[in-house]
Amino acid sequence: MPIEEIKDFDAENTIYLSPDAEETLSDFDPNTNFIIGGIVDRSVNKNLTYEKAEMLGVRCRKLPLFEHLTNTTRLVLNINTVFEMLLRSLNNGQDWSDAITKAMPGRHHDK
Ligand SMILES: C[S@@+](CC[C@H](N)C(=O)[O-])C[C@H]1O[C@@H](n2cnc3c(N)ncnc32)[C@H](O)[C@@H]1O
Repeated sequence: MPIEEIKDFDAENTIYLSPDAEETLSDFDPNTNFIIGGIVDRSVNKNLTYEKAEMLGVRCRKLPLFEHLTNTTRLVLNINTVFEMLLRSLNNGQDWSDAITKAMPGRHHDK
């Protein structure tokens, strides 16, 4: 169901995750609703999720990858990896460093 059609959609308590967000996700309320992915495209088009967040009027954030990995700027991860990072962070007192290191696919590791 398209998000726009969800009755009582709680925009205020929702964060849209996007690699193109201007702001980085840091501490968050554990009751926050997160939107991951949701747009099917053949290639990864820049700003799709960012523009969707703007349209919905919800906060848009990128994962703090740059802060915890070297040699990383814009990195588009798959949905499973993003979900695992969020879960690990939540289960571990929002320790992003540990969550990112453990969930990041091997090819992106620094070493
Ligand atoms: C492979 S991407 C999907 C690409 C598709 N073009 C789109 O924008 O929905 C999977 C989803 O994971 C999230 N995601 C991927 N990398 C991210 C990052 N670095 N920071 C925040 N969210 C990210 C976004 O919600 C993204 O839509």
